Amino acid sequence: MTASTTDEYQRAAGAIAPIWAELLNTGDDRITPSTDFFAAGGHSLTAMLLVTRVATDLGKSVPLFALVENPTLAAFVEYVLRAEDATAVVEERAPDGSTTQTERLLGYNEPTRRENRNQRFEYYYANAISSAAHAEFCEQVYGRNLGQHGMADFGQIDRMLELLGAKEGDTILDLGCGYGLISQYIAEKTGANVVGVDLSASAIAYAQGLAESDDRLSFQVQDANDLTFPAGTFTHIVSIDTIYYAPSLRDLLRRFQEIGTADLRVGIVRTFPIRTFTADTWSPDRTELATLLRELFGGYDTVDLSREENAHWKKKVEVLDSLRGRFAAEGNEELFEFRYAEAAYEAGIEQYRYMFVSRTA
Ligand SMILES: C[S@@+](CC[C@H](N)C(=O)[O-])C[C@H]1O[C@@H](n2cnc3c(N)ncnc32)[C@H](O)[C@@H]1O
Repeated sequence: MTASTTDEYQRAAGAIAPIWAELLNTGDDRITPSTDFFAAGGHSLTAMLLVTRVATDLGKSVPLFALVENPTLAAFVEYVLRAEDATAVVEERAPDGSTTQTERLLGYNEPTRRENRNQRFEYYYANAISSAAHAEFCEQVYGRNLGQHGMADFGQIDRMLELLGAKEGDTILDLGCGYGLISQYIAEKTGANVVGVDLSASAIAYAQGLAESDDRLSFQVQDANDLTFPAGTFTHIVSIDTIYYAPSLRDLLRRFQEIGTADLRVGIVRTFPIRTFTADTWSPDRTELATLLRELFGGYDTVDLSREENAHWKKKVEVLDSLRGRFAAEGNEELFEFRYAEAAYEAGIEQYRYMFVSRTA
């Protein structure tokens, strides 16, 4: 008996076929064991979404090349059945130690996921800044075009700066700064010096152009997981939608303490997809991040941005729908797909989003 006649296969195929149908924009009944993902209209971005969905929905880690080598539904399902579990689980404790909640980590930092992601960021930063349609997209979604890739609008950034209380003479690290335009905004708003770091060479090349005309700014390509600044460099560290890419939050926050001054303040904005949690008992105070901020920094304040987050993705889809023709007229269909695929996926999941600002003990 082959694996494809077992109950296990039927169950996996029953879960995977509807995801194919959704991503290929077709009916469930059109997906058969011999359907070829790419022949049926799949491309690199939908393939990426598929492996992400397989990780989040089925808890299985499947590299992109597995789909290329196993493009039919039957072959892909067989591959998924043999694949490793994608998710590690962390048990999280309430401040009083009494209750736990479970977070399934999404395998963001497995080597294949990391490599794919870094390539996609590089593609994005090499192309987005020169697209007028993309500038219009950012203006409509965020209120102003700063080439944003994260989810924070100016309301969120301003609230973070208020809570952080940064001022002239301070030195702020903007971790995951992208094009550096948010770093520039932070410098203008606070008068502080801002050092931006990002893994993307294209992003930092653009950012270094900004620094040429503003002494308060400087930018470097650095990996968040290997920050090489001297001890005591920063009075503040901000990170918008980037800490997902640190395999060990504890190591990252410890490193923050080393490169920060004694009264370092940290502002982190991040999203928690609800599907990764036991949602009925979920609380930001029981997340791994909260636990570590209590342990290492003595506490934190939070701002609940969840409602804004869910509206944000829907708005992105709506704005992109209205700009599809503009992207196409520029020959920027791939950039459009890049943003659309992510927005359509995220708009379909409920998310928590919180800002955490540490309070030094
Ligand atoms: C979702 S974007 C957010 C960018 C920006 N903060 C914003 O809000 O628009 C995540 C950023 O993290 C950067 N990044 C990803 N992995 C990284 C790493 N290991 N070290 C430093 N930056 C990283 C990406 O290049 C990207 O610019």
